[in-house]
Amino acid sequence: RAMAILREFEESCGAPVGKLKQVAEAMIVEMHAGLASEGGSKLKMLISYVDNLPTGDEKGLFYALDLGGTNFRVLRVQLGGNDGRVVNQEFIEVSIPPHLMVGTSDALFDYIAAELAKFVATESQGFHLSPGRQRELGFTFSFPVKQLSITSGTLMKWTKGFSINGAVIFVGQDVVAELTKAMERQGLDMRVAALVNDTIGTLAGGRYFNNDVIAAVILGTGTNAAYVERAHAIPKWHGLLPKSGEMVINMEWGNFRSSHLPVTEYDNALDVESLNPGEQIFEKIISGMYLGDIVRRVLCRMAEEAAFFGDTVPPKLKVPFILRCKATIARLNLLVVYNYMPGLSCYCLTPDMSAMHHDTSSDLRVVGNKLKDILGISNTSLKTRKVVVELCNIVATRGARLAAAGIFGILKKLGRDTVREEEKQRTVIAMDGGLYEHYTEFSKCLESTLQELLEKEVSESIVIEHSNDGSGIGASLLAASHSQYLEVEE
Ligand code: BG6
Ligand code: GLC
Repeated sequence: RAMAILREFEESCGAPVGKLKQVAEAMIVEMHAGLASEGGSKLKMLISYVDNLPTGDEKGLFYALDLGGTNFRVLRVQLGGNDGRVVNQEFIEVSIPPHLMVGTSDALFDYIAAELAKFVATESQGFHLSPGRQRELGFTFSFPVKQLSITSGTLMKWTKGFSINGAVIFVGQDVVAELTKAMERQGLDMRVAALVNDTIGTLAGGRYFNNDVIAAVILGTGTNAAYVERAHAIPKWHGLLPKSGEMVINMEWGNFRSSHLPVTEYDNALDVESLNPGEQIFEKIISGMYLGDIVRRVLCRMAEEAAFFGDTVPPKLKVPFILRCKATIARLNLLVVYNYMPGLSCYCLTPDMSAMHHDTSSDLRVVGNKLKDILGISNTSLKTRKVVVELCNIVATRGARLAAAGIFGILKKLGRDTVREEEKQRTVIAMDGGLYEHYTEFSKCLESTLQELLEKEVSESIVIEHSNDGSGIGASLLAASHSQYLEVEE
Protein backbone atom coordinates (compact mmCIF):
# COMPACT_ATOMS: atom_id res chain seq x y z
CA ARG A 1 0.00 0.00 0.00
CA ALA A 2 2.83 2.43 0.82
CA MET A 3 4.30 1.76 -2.58
CA ALA A 4 0.92 2.38 -4.18
CA ILE A 5 0.78 5.80 -2.50
CA LEU A 6 4.29 6.54 -3.72
CA ARG A 7 3.54 5.45 -7.28
CA GLU A 8 0.32 7.41 -7.38
CA PHE A 9 2.20 10.49 -6.19
CA GLU A 10 4.95 9.91 -8.72
CA GLU A 11 2.44 9.69 -11.49
CA SER A 12 0.74 12.94 -10.56
CA CYS A 13 4.15 14.67 -10.39
CA GLY A 14 5.03 13.60 -13.90
CA ALA A 15 6.57 16.34 -16.00
CA PRO A 16 7.45 14.88 -19.40
CA VAL A 17 8.82 17.16 -22.10
CA GLY A 18 5.41 17.61 -23.74
CA LYS A 19 3.92 18.89 -20.51
CA LEU A 20 6.88 21.15 -19.84
CA LYS A 21 6.44 22.71 -23.24
CA GLN A 22 2.79 23.38 -22.41
CA VAL A 23 3.89 24.98 -19.16
CA ALA A 24 6.37 27.16 -21.06
CA GLU A 25 3.67 28.19 -23.55
CA ALA A 26 1.30 29.06 -20.72
CA MET A 27 4.09 31.07 -19.11
CA ILE A 28 4.60 33.02 -22.34
CA VAL A 29 0.87 33.80 -22.58
CA GLU A 30 0.95 35.13 -19.01
CA MET A 31 4.11 37.11 -19.72
CA HIS A 32 2.35 38.91 -22.56
CA ALA A 33 -0.72 39.54 -20.42
CA GLY A 34 1.38 40.86 -17.53
CA LEU A 35 3.29 43.19 -19.85
CA ALA A 36 0.07 44.45 -21.40
CA SER A 37 -1.66 45.76 -18.30
CA GLU A 38 -1.38 46.07 -14.53
CA GLY A 39 -3.18 43.20 -12.89
CA GLY A 40 -3.68 41.54 -16.26
CA SER A 41 -2.03 38.32 -15.21
CA LYS A 42 -0.85 36.12 -12.40
CA LEU A 43 2.59 37.24 -13.54
CA LYS A 44 3.07 40.79 -12.35
CA MET A 45 5.92 41.48 -14.81
CA LEU A 46 7.09 44.38 -12.67
CA ILE A 47 8.91 47.26 -14.30
CA SER A 48 12.24 47.67 -12.54
CA TYR A 49 13.22 51.09 -13.90
CA VAL A 50 16.55 49.50 -14.75
CA ASP A 51 17.02 50.31 -18.42
CA ASN A 52 20.79 50.19 -18.44
CA LEU A 53 22.79 47.30 -17.16
CA PRO A 54 26.35 47.65 -15.86
CA THR A 55 28.96 48.34 -18.48
CA GLY A 56 32.16 47.96 -16.48
CA ASP A 57 32.77 51.69 -16.34
CA GLU A 58 31.21 52.08 -12.89
CA LYS A 59 33.58 53.75 -10.52
CA GLY A 60 33.80 54.65 -6.87
CA LEU A 61 32.81 53.35 -3.44
CA PHE A 62 29.29 51.93 -3.13
CA TYR A 63 27.34 49.96 -0.58
CA ALA A 64 24.66 47.30 -0.91
CA LEU A 65 22.12 45.91 1.51
CA ASP A 66 20.48 42.59 0.76
CA LEU A 67 17.26 41.70 2.58
CA GLY A 68 14.87 38.87 1.82
CA GLY A 69 16.91 35.74 1.16
CA THR A 70 18.11 33.42 3.91
CA ASN A 71 20.55 35.97 5.21
CA PHE A 72 20.69 39.69 5.56
CA ARG A 73 23.91 41.05 4.08
CA VAL A 74 25.74 44.32 3.87
CA LEU A 75 28.42 44.85 1.30
CA ARG A 76 30.82 47.57 0.26
CA VAL A 77 32.64 47.55 -2.98
CA GLN A 78 35.26 49.76 -4.56
CA LEU A 79 34.66 49.82 -8.27
CA GLY A 80 37.63 50.69 -10.41
CA GLY A 81 36.03 51.46 -13.74
CA ASN A 82 38.26 50.25 -16.56
CA ASP A 83 36.00 47.66 -18.02
CA GLY A 84 34.73 45.93 -14.98
CA ARG A 85 37.24 45.89 -12.20
CA VAL A 86 36.12 45.32 -8.63
CA VAL A 87 39.11 46.62 -6.75
CA ASN A 88 37.97 45.65 -3.32
CA GLN A 89 34.96 44.22 -1.57
CA GLU A 90 33.89 43.27 1.93
CA PHE A 91 30.65 42.04 3.36
CA ILE A 92 29.02 41.01 6.60
CA GLU A 93 26.10 38.66 7.18
CA VAL A 94 23.78 39.47 10.02
CA SER A 95 20.85 37.65 11.55
CA ILE A 96 17.97 39.67 12.85
CA PRO A 97 16.71 38.97 16.38
CA PRO A 98 13.29 37.30 16.24
CA HIS A 99 11.56 39.83 18.46
CA LEU A 100 12.14 42.46 15.81
CA MET A 101 10.19 40.36 13.37
CA VAL A 102 6.97 40.91 15.27
CA GLY A 103 7.81 44.46 16.14
CA THR A 104 7.30 47.61 14.21
CA SER A 105 8.74 48.62 10.91
CA ASP A 106 10.76 51.32 12.70
CA ALA A 107 12.38 48.81 15.01
CA LEU A 108 13.36 46.48 12.18
CA PHE A 109 14.74 49.24 10.01
CA ASP A 110 16.54 50.80 12.98
CA TYR A 111 18.31 47.51 13.52
CA ILE A 112 19.28 47.18 9.87
CA ALA A 113 20.44 50.78 9.74
CA ALA A 114 22.46 50.32 12.94
CA GLU A 115 24.24 47.29 11.46
CA LEU A 116 24.89 49.28 8.33
CA ALA A 117 26.24 52.21 10.37
CA LYS A 118 28.57 49.87 12.29
CA PHE A 119 29.81 48.41 9.03
CA VAL A 120 30.39 51.84 7.53
CA ALA A 121 32.39 52.81 10.61
CA THR A 122 34.85 50.01 9.87
CA GLU A 123 35.64 51.36 6.42
CA SER A 124 39.36 51.08 6.05
CA GLN A 125 42.15 51.31 3.55
CA GLY A 126 41.29 49.97 0.18
CA PHE A 127 38.00 51.85 0.18
CA HIS A 128 37.90 55.42 -0.85
CA LEU A 129 35.04 57.90 -0.94
CA SER A 130 35.67 60.97 -3.04
CA PRO A 131 35.80 64.05 -0.79
CA GLY A 132 32.54 65.85 -0.16
CA ARG A 133 30.37 62.99 -1.34
CA GLN A 134 27.51 61.24 0.34
CA ARG A 135 27.75 57.46 0.53
CA GLU A 136 25.33 55.67 -1.79
CA LEU A 137 23.58 52.35 -1.42
CA GLY A 138 21.92 49.73 -3.61
CA PHE A 139 19.04 48.12 -1.68
CA THR A 140 18.06 44.58 -2.65
CA PHE A 141 14.62 43.87 -1.23
CA SER A 142 13.44 40.46 -2.39
CA PHE A 143 9.68 40.78 -2.39
CA PRO A 144 7.17 42.04 -4.94
CA VAL A 145 7.52 45.80 -5.00
CA LYS A 146 5.67 48.22 -7.20
CA GLN A 147 8.46 50.52 -8.24
CA LEU A 148 7.63 54.17 -8.69
CA SER A 149 11.15 54.98 -9.78
CA ILE A 150 14.57 53.40 -9.40
CA THR A 151 14.69 54.83 -5.88
CA SER A 152 11.21 54.19 -4.57
CA GLY A 153 8.64 51.46 -4.41
CA THR A 154 5.85 50.05 -2.28
CA LEU A 155 5.52 46.53 -0.97
CA MET A 156 2.73 44.72 -2.84
CA LYS A 157 2.52 41.59 -0.68
CA TRP A 158 4.63 39.33 1.45
CA THR A 159 5.91 36.03 0.10
CA LYS A 160 8.07 33.19 1.44
CA GLY A 161 6.07 32.99 4.64
CA PHE A 162 7.00 36.43 5.83
CA SER A 163 4.86 37.98 8.46
CA ILE A 164 1.54 39.35 7.38
CA ASN A 165 0.23 40.53 10.70
CA GLY A 166 3.62 41.03 12.20
CA ALA A 167 3.54 44.75 11.54
CA VAL A 168 7.09 44.75 10.26
CA ILE A 169 6.52 46.67 7.09
CA PHE A 170 3.02 47.11 5.82
CA VAL A 171 1.94 46.34 2.37
CA GLY A 172 1.77 49.63 0.53
CA GLN A 173 4.60 51.24 2.45
CA ASP A 174 7.57 52.76 0.61
CA VAL A 175 10.51 50.61 1.58
CA VAL A 176 13.12 53.20 0.66
CA ALA A 177 11.43 55.93 2.71
CA GLU A 178 11.42 53.59 5.72
CA LEU A 179 15.08 52.75 5.34
CA THR A 180 16.04 56.36 4.74
CA LYS A 181 14.27 57.54 7.89
CA ALA A 182 15.99 54.82 9.89
CA MET A 183 19.41 55.76 8.51
CA GLU A 184 18.73 59.35 9.54
CA ARG A 185 17.77 58.21 13.03
CA GLN A 186 21.11 56.40 13.19
CA GLY A 187 22.92 59.53 12.10
CA LEU A 188 24.02 57.73 8.95
CA ASP A 189 24.40 59.99 5.96
CA MET A 190 23.65 57.64 3.11
CA ARG A 191 21.37 57.75 0.08
CA VAL A 192 19.52 54.82 -1.48
CA ALA A 193 20.46 55.18 -5.14
CA ALA A 194 18.78 52.00 -6.36
CA LEU A 195 16.01 49.75 -5.04
CA VAL A 196 16.04 46.33 -6.67
CA ASN A 197 14.69 42.82 -6.43
CA ASP A 198 17.26 40.02 -5.92
CA THR A 199 16.66 38.80 -9.47
CA ILE A 200 17.46 42.27 -10.83
CA GLY A 201 20.59 42.51 -8.67
CA THR A 202 21.69 39.09 -9.89
CA LEU A 203 21.07 40.06 -13.51
CA ALA A 204 23.06 43.28 -13.10
CA GLY A 205 25.91 41.48 -11.30
CA GLY A 206 25.92 38.75 -13.94
CA ARG A 207 26.03 41.25 -16.81
CA TYR A 208 28.98 43.08 -15.25
CA PHE A 209 31.09 39.96 -15.57
CA ASN A 210 29.56 38.59 -18.73
CA ASN A 211 27.97 40.54 -21.54
CA ASP A 212 25.87 37.60 -22.67
CA VAL A 213 23.73 37.53 -19.51
CA ILE A 214 20.12 38.29 -20.47
CA ALA A 215 18.18 36.79 -17.58
CA ALA A 216 18.56 35.86 -13.94
CA VAL A 217 16.83 33.18 -11.91
CA ILE A 218 16.73 32.78 -8.14
CA LEU A 219 16.20 29.32 -6.72
CA GLY A 220 16.40 29.65 -2.98
CA THR A 221 13.86 30.08 -0.21
CA GLY A 222 11.63 31.43 -2.95
CA THR A 223 11.95 31.44 -6.71
CA ASN A 224 11.75 34.18 -9.30
CA ALA A 225 13.20 35.39 -12.61
CA ALA A 226 14.07 38.65 -14.32
CA TYR A 227 15.05 39.32 -17.90
CA VAL A 228 15.82 42.09 -20.35
CA GLU A 229 12.77 43.01 -22.40
CA ARG A 230 12.46 45.34 -25.38
CA ALA A 231 10.73 48.47 -24.11
CA HIS A 232 8.31 48.58 -27.00
CA ALA A 233 7.14 45.08 -26.09
CA ILE A 234 5.79 46.46 -22.79
CA PRO A 235 2.41 48.04 -23.61
CA LYS A 236 1.79 49.01 -19.99
CA TRP A 237 4.94 51.16 -19.93
CA HIS A 238 3.80 54.72 -20.61
CA GLY A 239 7.05 56.43 -19.74
CA LEU A 240 9.65 57.70 -22.15
CA LEU A 241 11.27 55.12 -24.34
CA PRO A 242 14.62 54.41 -22.71
CA LYS A 243 17.68 55.23 -24.81
CA SER A 244 18.78 51.63 -24.62
CA GLY A 245 15.36 50.56 -25.90
CA GLU A 246 15.33 48.01 -23.08
CA MET A 247 13.80 47.52 -19.68
CA VAL A 248 14.52 44.85 -17.11
CA ILE A 249 11.39 43.06 -15.95
CA ASN A 250 10.95 41.33 -12.59
CA MET A 251 8.53 38.57 -13.50
CA GLU A 252 7.61 37.44 -9.96
CA TRP A 253 7.21 34.03 -11.56
CA GLY A 254 6.63 32.42 -8.17
CA ASN A 255 3.00 33.47 -8.55
CA PHE A 256 2.60 31.68 -11.89
CA ARG A 257 -0.06 28.99 -12.09
CA SER A 258 -1.53 26.98 -14.90
CA SER A 259 -3.75 23.97 -15.38
CA HIS A 260 -0.72 22.32 -17.00
CA LEU A 261 1.22 22.30 -13.74
CA PRO A 262 1.40 18.84 -12.19
CA VAL A 263 -0.16 19.80 -8.87
CA THR A 264 -1.05 17.03 -6.42
CA GLU A 265 -3.42 16.80 -3.47
CA TYR A 266 -0.41 17.26 -1.20
CA ASP A 267 0.42 20.57 -2.86
CA ASN A 268 -3.16 21.70 -2.50
CA ALA A 269 -3.12 20.87 1.20
CA LEU A 270 0.19 22.68 1.66
CA ASP A 271 -1.22 25.70 -0.11
CA VAL A 272 -4.42 25.78 1.93
CA GLU A 273 -2.46 25.61 5.17
CA SER A 274 0.15 28.14 4.09
CA LEU A 275 0.33 31.78 5.11
CA ASN A 276 -0.64 32.88 1.60
CA PRO A 277 -3.24 30.41 0.28
CA GLY A 278 -3.92 30.57 -3.43
CA GLU A 279 -0.77 32.53 -4.08
CA GLN A 280 2.76 31.69 -5.23
CA ILE A 281 1.70 28.28 -6.59
CA PHE A 282 4.74 27.84 -8.88
CA GLU A 283 6.98 28.80 -5.95
CA LYS A 284 5.27 26.26 -3.69
CA ILE A 285 6.16 23.36 -5.97
CA ILE A 286 9.68 24.51 -6.81
CA SER A 287 11.41 26.47 -4.09
CA GLY A 288 13.49 25.51 -1.09
CA MET A 289 11.02 26.70 1.47
CA TYR A 290 8.42 24.12 0.48
CA LEU A 291 10.08 21.01 -0.98
CA GLY A 292 10.72 19.31 2.37
CA ASP A 293 7.18 19.86 3.50
CA ILE A 294 5.81 18.14 0.42
CA VAL A 295 8.00 15.15 1.28
CA ARG A 296 6.69 15.20 4.85
CA ARG A 297 3.09 15.25 3.69
CA VAL A 298 3.53 12.17 1.51
CA LEU A 299 5.39 10.34 4.29
CA CYS A 300 2.58 11.22 6.66
CA ARG A 301 -0.02 9.72 4.34
CA MET A 302 2.10 6.58 4.00
CA ALA A 303 2.35 6.32 7.76
CA GLU A 304 -1.37 6.87 8.31
CA GLU A 305 -2.71 4.63 5.60
CA ALA A 306 -0.03 2.01 5.18
CA ALA A 307 1.73 1.86 8.56
CA PHE A 308 4.91 2.82 6.75
CA PHE A 309 6.72 3.53 10.00
CA GLY A 310 5.02 0.83 12.08
CA ASP A 311 1.75 0.69 13.97
CA THR A 312 1.68 4.26 15.14
CA VAL A 313 2.08 7.43 13.15
CA PRO A 314 5.18 9.28 14.36
CA PRO A 315 3.66 12.43 15.91
CA LYS A 316 6.33 14.73 14.52
CA LEU A 317 5.36 13.78 10.98
CA LYS A 318 2.15 15.68 11.51
CA VAL A 319 3.91 18.94 12.24
CA PRO A 320 4.02 21.28 9.26
CA PHE A 321 7.52 22.28 8.28
CA ILE A 322 9.15 19.92 10.78
CA LEU A 323 11.56 19.00 8.03
CA ARG A 324 12.58 22.58 8.05
CA CYS A 325 13.39 23.53 11.61
CA LYS A 326 11.94 23.06 15.03
CA ALA A 327 11.92 26.64 16.19
CA THR A 328 9.85 27.61 13.20
CA ILE A 329 6.94 25.56 14.33
CA ALA A 330 6.83 27.05 17.77
CA ARG A 331 6.61 30.43 16.21
CA LEU A 332 4.49 29.73 13.20
CA ASN A 333 1.29 30.66 14.96
CA LEU A 334 2.80 34.00 15.83
CA LEU A 335 3.32 34.48 12.12
CA VAL A 336 6.89 35.25 12.80
CA VAL A 337 9.25 36.11 10.00
CA TYR A 338 11.19 33.00 10.72
CA ASN A 339 13.70 33.54 7.98
CA TYR A 340 15.83 35.58 10.26
CA MET A 341 15.97 33.56 13.39
CA PRO A 342 19.55 33.48 14.52
CA GLY A 343 21.29 30.29 13.65
CA LEU A 344 18.47 29.00 11.54
CA SER A 345 18.48 29.21 7.86
CA CYS A 346 15.10 29.44 6.28
CA TYR A 347 15.31 26.55 3.96
CA CYS A 348 17.00 24.27 6.43
CA LEU A 349 14.30 21.84 5.40
CA THR A 350 15.98 21.54 2.07
CA PRO A 351 19.37 20.73 3.54
CA ASP A 352 17.68 17.86 5.39
CA MET A 353 15.99 16.72 2.24
CA SER A 354 19.03 17.20 0.03
CA ALA A 355 21.25 15.45 2.57
CA MET A 356 18.92 12.43 2.41
CA HIS A 357 18.70 12.61 -1.36
CA HIS A 358 22.49 12.82 -1.71
CA ASP A 359 23.19 9.98 0.70
CA THR A 360 25.59 7.63 -1.07
CA SER A 361 26.36 5.30 1.86
CA SER A 362 25.42 1.69 1.25
CA ASP A 363 23.10 1.54 4.26
CA LEU A 364 21.70 5.03 3.70
CA ARG A 365 23.00 6.08 7.08
CA VAL A 366 22.30 9.77 6.56
CA VAL A 367 18.66 9.04 5.79
CA GLY A 368 18.42 6.87 8.90
CA ASN A 369 19.91 9.59 11.09
CA LYS A 370 17.72 12.35 9.69
CA LEU A 371 14.58 10.27 10.20
CA LYS A 372 15.67 9.63 13.76
CA ASP A 373 16.87 13.11 14.66
CA ILE A 374 14.17 15.13 12.99
CA LEU A 375 11.15 12.90 12.98
CA GLY A 376 11.97 10.69 15.96
CA ILE A 377 11.70 7.52 13.85
CA SER A 378 14.36 4.98 14.84
CA ASN A 379 15.41 1.66 13.44
CA THR A 380 14.24 2.16 9.91
CA SER A 381 14.96 -0.61 7.45
CA LEU A 382 17.06 -0.11 4.34
CA LYS A 383 13.94 -0.61 2.27
CA THR A 384 12.16 2.22 4.08
CA ARG A 385 15.16 4.50 3.63
CA LYS A 386 15.27 3.75 -0.07
CA VAL A 387 11.64 4.78 -0.40
CA VAL A 388 12.41 8.07 1.37
CA VAL A 389 15.23 8.77 -1.10
CA GLU A 390 12.95 7.96 -3.98
CA LEU A 391 10.35 10.33 -2.63
CA CYS A 392 12.92 13.15 -2.33
CA ASN A 393 13.91 12.42 -5.90
CA ILE A 394 10.34 12.69 -7.17
CA VAL A 395 9.75 16.03 -5.44
CA ALA A 396 13.11 17.56 -6.44
CA THR A 397 12.84 16.32 -10.02
CA ARG A 398 9.42 17.86 -10.52
CA GLY A 399 10.61 21.19 -9.12
CA ALA A 400 13.78 21.25 -11.19
CA ARG A 401 11.98 20.30 -14.39
CA LEU A 402 9.37 22.99 -13.90
CA ALA A 403 12.05 25.60 -13.22
CA ALA A 404 13.69 24.52 -16.49
CA ALA A 405 10.34 24.93 -18.26
CA GLY A 406 10.13 28.48 -16.91
CA ILE A 407 13.59 29.29 -18.26
CA PHE A 408 12.65 27.73 -21.58
CA GLY A 409 9.57 29.98 -21.65
CA ILE A 410 11.72 33.10 -21.22
CA LEU A 411 14.14 31.97 -23.94
CA LYS A 412 11.26 31.28 -26.26
CA LYS A 413 9.60 34.62 -25.54
CA LEU A 414 12.89 36.29 -26.50
CA GLY A 415 13.34 34.14 -29.58
CA ARG A 416 16.50 32.65 -28.15
CA ASP A 417 15.31 29.07 -28.29
CA THR A 418 16.24 28.65 -31.94
CA VAL A 419 19.43 29.28 -33.83
CA ARG A 420 19.78 32.37 -35.86
CA GLU A 421 22.36 31.59 -38.44
CA GLU A 422 23.59 35.13 -38.86
CA GLU A 423 24.27 35.70 -35.19
CA LYS A 424 25.46 32.70 -33.27
CA GLN A 425 24.82 34.52 -30.05
CA ARG A 426 25.54 33.04 -26.65
CA THR A 427 22.83 33.33 -24.07
CA VAL A 428 23.71 33.24 -20.40
CA ILE A 429 21.31 32.92 -17.50
CA ALA A 430 22.70 34.06 -14.16
CA MET A 431 21.51 31.83 -11.37
CA ASP A 432 21.67 32.20 -7.60
CA GLY A 433 20.05 30.99 -4.40
CA GLY A 434 20.72 28.29 -1.84
CA LEU A 435 18.60 25.65 -3.52
CA TYR A 436 20.53 25.91 -6.76
CA GLU A 437 23.85 26.23 -5.00
CA HIS A 438 23.56 23.39 -2.49
CA TYR A 439 21.05 20.90 -3.87
CA THR A 440 23.20 19.28 -6.57
CA GLU A 441 20.63 16.74 -7.70
CA PHE A 442 18.19 19.60 -8.22
CA SER A 443 20.59 21.76 -10.24
CA LYS A 444 21.85 18.83 -12.31
CA CYS A 445 18.29 17.89 -13.18
CA LEU A 446 17.41 21.47 -14.06
CA GLU A 447 20.32 21.73 -16.45
CA SER A 448 19.69 18.41 -18.16
CA THR A 449 16.00 19.21 -18.53
CA LEU A 450 16.79 22.52 -20.20
CA GLN A 451 18.96 20.62 -22.66
CA GLU A 452 16.07 18.23 -23.29
CA LEU A 453 13.80 21.15 -24.08
CA LEU A 454 16.18 22.96 -26.40
CA GLU A 455 16.94 22.08 -29.97
CA LYS A 456 20.31 20.43 -30.29
CA GLU A 457 21.75 23.21 -32.45
CA VAL A 458 21.07 25.85 -29.85
CA SER A 459 21.73 23.92 -26.67
CA GLU A 460 25.44 24.60 -26.63
CA SER A 461 25.03 28.34 -26.87
CA ILE A 462 22.72 28.54 -23.86
CA VAL A 463 24.54 28.51 -20.58
CA ILE A 464 23.52 28.70 -16.95
CA GLU A 465 26.09 30.41 -14.75
CA HIS A 466 26.14 30.44 -11.01
CA SER A 467 26.42 34.03 -9.90
CA ASN A 468 27.48 33.69 -6.31
CA ASP A 469 26.09 36.58 -4.24
CA GLY A 470 25.93 38.48 -7.47
CA SER A 471 22.88 40.39 -6.36
CA GLY A 472 24.86 42.44 -3.82
CA ILE A 473 27.45 43.45 -6.37
CA GLY A 474 24.65 44.03 -8.85
CA ALA A 475 22.81 46.35 -6.47
CA SER A 476 25.96 48.36 -5.80
CA LEU A 477 26.65 48.61 -9.54
CA LEU A 478 23.14 49.92 -10.10
CA ALA A 479 23.68 52.39 -7.27
CA ALA A 480 26.80 53.50 -9.14
CA SER A 481 25.00 53.90 -12.43
CA HIS A 482 22.24 55.89 -10.71
CA SER A 483 24.59 57.94 -8.58
CA GLN A 484 23.64 61.55 -7.95
CA TYR A 485 27.19 62.50 -8.93
CA LEU A 486 27.13 60.91 -12.33
CA GLU A 487 26.63 64.07 -14.37
CA VAL A 488 29.33 65.87 -12.42
CA GLU A 489 31.76 63.15 -13.42
CA GLU A 490 30.89 63.11 -17.06
C1 BG6 B 1 21.72 35.24 -2.44
C2 BG6 B 1 21.49 36.60 -3.05
O1 BG6 B 1 22.91 34.71 -2.84
O2 BG6 B 1 20.64 34.41 -2.80
C3 BG6 B 1 20.22 37.16 -2.46
O3 BG6 B 1 22.57 37.48 -2.75
C4 BG6 B 1 19.07 36.21 -2.74
O4 BG6 B 1 19.95 38.44 -2.98
C5 BG6 B 1 19.43 34.85 -2.22
O5 BG6 B 1 17.89 36.71 -2.13
C6 BG6 B 1 18.33 33.85 -2.51
O6 BG6 B 1 18.66 32.58 -1.97
P1 BG6 B 1 18.25 32.08 -0.52
O7 BG6 B 1 18.61 30.66 -0.56
O8 BG6 B 1 19.05 32.89 0.45
O9 BG6 B 1 16.77 32.34 -0.40
C1 GLC C 1 9.85 35.43 -3.73
C2 GLC C 1 9.72 36.95 -3.87
C3 GLC C 1 10.56 37.47 -5.02
C4 GLC C 1 11.98 36.98 -4.87
C5 GLC C 1 12.02 35.46 -4.75
C6 GLC C 1 13.43 34.92 -4.58
O1 GLC C 1 9.25 34.83 -4.83
O2 GLC C 1 8.36 37.30 -4.06
O3 GLC C 1 10.52 38.88 -5.06
O4 GLC C 1 12.72 37.40 -5.98
O5 GLC C 1 11.23 35.05 -3.65
O6 GLC C 1 14.06 35.43 -3.44
